[in-house]
Amino acid sequence: MKALILSGGKGTRLRPLTYTGAKQLVPVANKPILWYGIEAIAAAGITDIGIVISPETGAEVRAKTGDGSRFGVRITYILQEQPAGLAHAVKTAQPFLEASPFVLYLGDNLVQGELGLFLECFQARGLDALTLLCSVPNPSAFGVAEVDEQGRVLRLVEKPKHPPSNLALVGIYFFSPRIHEAIASIQPSARGELEITDAIQFLIDQQKQVEALQIQGWWLDTGKKDDLLEANQIILDDCLCTQLEGNIDNASKISGRVQIAPDSQVINCTIRGPVVIGRDCYLENCFIGPYSSIGDRVKLVDADLEHSVVLEGAAVVGIHQRIVDSVIGQRVQIKAAPQRPKALRFMVGDDCHIELCQ
Ligand code: TTP
Repeated sequence: MKALILSGGKGTRLRPLTYTGAKQLVPVANKPILWYGIEAIAAAGITDIGIVISPETGAEVRAKTGDGSRFGVRITYILQEQPAGLAHAVKTAQPFLEASPFVLYLGDNLVQGELGLFLECFQARGLDALTLLCSVPNPSAFGVAEVDEQGRVLRLVEKPKHPPSNLALVGIYFFSPRIHEAIASIQPSARGELEITDAIQFLIDQQKQVEALQIQGWWLDTGKKDDLLEANQIILDDCLCTQLEGNIDNASKISGRVQIAPDSQVINCTIRGPVVIGRDCYLENCFIGPYSSIGDRVKLVDADLEHSVVLEGAAVVGIHQRIVDSVIGQRVQIKAAPQRPKALRFMVGDDCHIELCQ
């Protein structure tokens, strides 16, 4: 059994962060999203992992993630020249996958629950494809499956206007090597991509064994800002335990589950967990509220922040309004203006979103 993680793509919905980096490396609770997938695959006992990368962000993914030894797995990187669809990514990885069955894992997805249990079902039932489904309130925004009482998949539809069910396709699939014949038989969709849903539909039409399992826990596709914040909230809720390693002065008040990494300084701050703070940070006169993740080397002075993700090297200084529901990119500087006339001054990159109080 092998695994294929897709870590290419365009990441248009997470701009501007994806102009300068891979969306799969954006941290959730200070750990790249991609690494949660690698850990879940390793925990299921799969050690041979291919990661599909793009020309734009592949080097960064490779440099940060390495050869897999830190996860106890072996990683092979596979370059996909164009983001031409999920099935195209599988086609590109065929020399790595050979005739092995494999799990396909979208590198920006997070799923609660043990992958090993789904793998057991896939193997025990001798399937050609096992898809995972999650009940969602807005199925029209997803790939949707129609399933019979035995769990057999009858039909898949991408973003249907009239969804046949509320069961969305989660970004994890198990395949036998038959999927390669299916991919070779399909044509690009209206949006010009080779769709994995079309390949699975081909297997269904050929009366191959395609079944679905409904996951019981949460599933998060972190491709958009609000989903990223929700993922951050859920992971902090589920996984964080208290670990205070930085220097915290006596005037600071820390409550709830809070992690502060070594070499960070906390002076006269109130921190209410769950909160994670990286290494070499400097925090003075701040309130840090629940569900915040602060990356390494961040400086926060006279700042008030909650339910937000602050990436490496950013600084927020002298902002006396509360910052909430925000994602602040690497090395971003948000500071009170020292000079007159009192005014707002911006140097903001393309596709940024800023909301100011009136
Ligand atoms: P998507 O989120 O569907 O696509 P995208 O990354 O291009 O994002 P956006 O819609 O915001 O432009 O992709 C799901 C995962 O698969 C994601 O981790 C990127 C990856 N991917 C590839 O590796 N190759 C591809 O050709 C495509 C389309 C996606």
